[in-house]
Amino acid sequence: MNKEGLETILNNLSIDEKVGQLIQLSGEFFSGDELSIGPASKLGIDDEKISYVGSILNVSGAEQTLKIQKKYLENSRHKIPVLFMNDVIYAYKTALPSPLGLGATWNPKLIEKSFNMIAREASSAGIHVTFSPMADLVRDPRWGRVAESTGEDTFLSSQMIKAMVRGFQNNFEANNSLVSCVKHFAGYGAAEGGRDYNTVDLSKWRLFQEHFPIYKSAIDAGAKMVMTSFNTIEGIPSTGNEWLVKDVLRKQWGFNGAVIADYAAVAELVYHGVAKDFSDAAALAMNASVDIDMKSPSYINHLKKLVESGVVSHELLDAAVMRVLELKNALGLFEDPFRNVSVDTEKRNTLTKENLSISKEVSDESIVLLENNGVLPLKKDKKIALVGPYADAKDIVGMWAINTDFKSVVTLKTSLEKEVPNLVYSKGTESVLDLKSFGKLAALLRVNEKEINNPDHLVKLLSTAKEAMEYGDVIVLTLGEHMLASGEGGSRQHLDLPQHHIDLFNVARTYNKPIVSIIYGGRPLLLDEISKYSDAVIFAGFPGTSGGASLTDILVGKVNPSGKITMSFPRNVGQIPVYYNHFSTGRPMGKSSHSERFVSRYIDGPNDPQYPFGYGLSYHDVKISNLKLNKQIMKLNESLEVSLTLTNVTNIKGKSTLQWYIHDHFGSVVRPVRQLVGFDKIEMKEKEVRDYTFRITQRDLVFYNSNLDLVLEPGEFTLFVGFDSDCKNSMKFTVEG
Ligand code: BGC
Repeated sequence: MNKEGLETILNNLSIDEKVGQLIQLSGEFFSGDELSIGPASKLGIDDEKISYVGSILNVSGAEQTLKIQKKYLENSRHKIPVLFMNDVIYAYKTALPSPLGLGATWNPKLIEKSFNMIAREASSAGIHVTFSPMADLVRDPRWGRVAESTGEDTFLSSQMIKAMVRGFQNNFEANNSLVSCVKHFAGYGAAEGGRDYNTVDLSKWRLFQEHFPIYKSAIDAGAKMVMTSFNTIEGIPSTGNEWLVKDVLRKQWGFNGAVIADYAAVAELVYHGVAKDFSDAAALAMNASVDIDMKSPSYINHLKKLVESGVVSHELLDAAVMRVLELKNALGLFEDPFRNVSVDTEKRNTLTKENLSISKEVSDESIVLLENNGVLPLKKDKKIALVGPYADAKDIVGMWAINTDFKSVVTLKTSLEKEVPNLVYSKGTESVLDLKSFGKLAALLRVNEKEINNPDHLVKLLSTAKEAMEYGDVIVLTLGEHMLASGEGGSRQHLDLPQHHIDLFNVARTYNKPIVSIIYGGRPLLLDEISKYSDAVIFAGFPGTSGGASLTDILVGKVNPSGKITMSFPRNVGQIPVYYNHFSTGRPMGKSSHSERFVSRYIDGPNDPQYPFGYGLSYHDVKISNLKLNKQIMKLNESLEVSLTLTNVTNIKGKSTLQWYIHDHFGSVVRPVRQLVGFDKIEMKEKEVRDYTFRITQRDLVFYNSNLDLVLEPGEFTLFVGFDSDCKNSMKFTVEG
């Protein structure tokens, strides 16, 4: 439909109908045969208002969406289709690894392809908009939502987020695309103490330098929607923050798409204490140009009066409604409200062989080998004891795979059995014994706390595990954090493995046999002891539908691991936040002339992490030599060519992620000790020797000064090149004005 068509619709809407376009309710309001039966009283709203609602949250499946849309249009005076929005974060039916694992692939092309697969599945189920990607920069693993992020680095996350948006939106190809809603704008990942929904206080400088670029990369890639976050920014919650939404997002970045508030975030302005009541909250959010109110009683009950009394202008209301209509139009809904969806197409498009093979490809690259003394890949003739609560578990997909088909999840046991003839499996212990910390979510585990804690039951599990360990030449342990322990509301004070998993590990140690520890989890966990006493350690994250198959192939050497962690793994909780691109401080450890007591360090533990950002092992090994710059001095408007030779010194082919970092020696503001500015995942053949070049351009050297201008200041720089953020190859160069 053209712009005039949309304007005609807008001009014909009553205020109630306009307000309706700005409301999002969940499927429960629409689940009965009558459009509007449901728990309406919860929000204090009536049937008529519900019939105007412009979008619906978390309904899925072609059958449901078609039924609701049909009914909705029958009742709609202007035949404006309703939008279905859903948390298709990294999975519809087929689950990819959760985003921390996606980041670990360092492979944006693969991520784009795989997100397109997810879009194909979800759009054929009638979903229009996905609340993904999450572009929040994360540096505190206590925060459960680090599982939903691609890590601690602005540059890497920007590349990943761009790829996700492109994959989802797929140029709006009919029936094969979703609108991507980037979230949570802004700074949500910096919650104090890693406690979800907690206060955020970041300087504008840090926001511009480290946090904003990731959201902006999504906008630049064409993301059509933005979600405001729950947290405050300089004392004002994002959802009522005019500076953030109007000035930065809309004016400075030119974003003209729809903005939605996170779940009930408009009403929460009252609980933050910046709005007196829900009406006040609605006025604050509207005036900040937040268009859609998700699941709160604010717009639906108060916006009409606010417009009639002039607190919110007609222009603001119309502009917000127009943005929602434009979104519907971009999806082609006015031409085909059903987007060609049918139960049949959904079946044909989901969990196909091709989709599963894409998820396997991603999962292969998301898994990180942290330690290996040569025990991996497993030798063919070895007897294997496969022990631990995740070896045969299907709940390894992470919290946001809410639509996934658990039946399709491949477990490690089922696939490893096919590869290793001499394998004995034992669960060893339960994944979770203490359900209390999960609250009501514990019901999802479908276990009885008393039964699983019954001493006889636990003794039995352990004794079969001992038999298995007795039998095996190698013990493969599957340990870690349950998927319900991370994700939204999954903040933790302790980042150790559950004590009963450590106990199982200690039993395994008594056999003096090689131990391979496979760790599941949504965040960096404390692995000091595990690393010390294992012969190999694999971080599996939550590897998705094909996770078991990928782990099997890595264990037996059919897949050469290539994942690299994108969040530093701390040694202990007291170090947090620990991230590679920190500032020098005036008293840097190891470099300051002050005595060691008075430098920036802890007296009871090291500063450096257990594993640094960008780290991960492979079965092959690539060396760098001949590192050269084409010139020593770069003029402000020039670029620099870097050349080097890569040599695969092994007889094994594999993928290596070359990473390059910059250190700016001197600036008008402090500069990080290292900053990732480029990377490339390179496939190397057996014994291959290859010349490689890349460029350092102005884009790699700019930063925000204290006036928040993006500048390139002349001076001295060091370039570091290697395979993790701790890499040692380096060269200096100078930028001249
Ligand atoms: C989360 C969002 C999510 C939304 C809708 C909120 O609680 O913070 O990330 O998209 O719910 O389900």
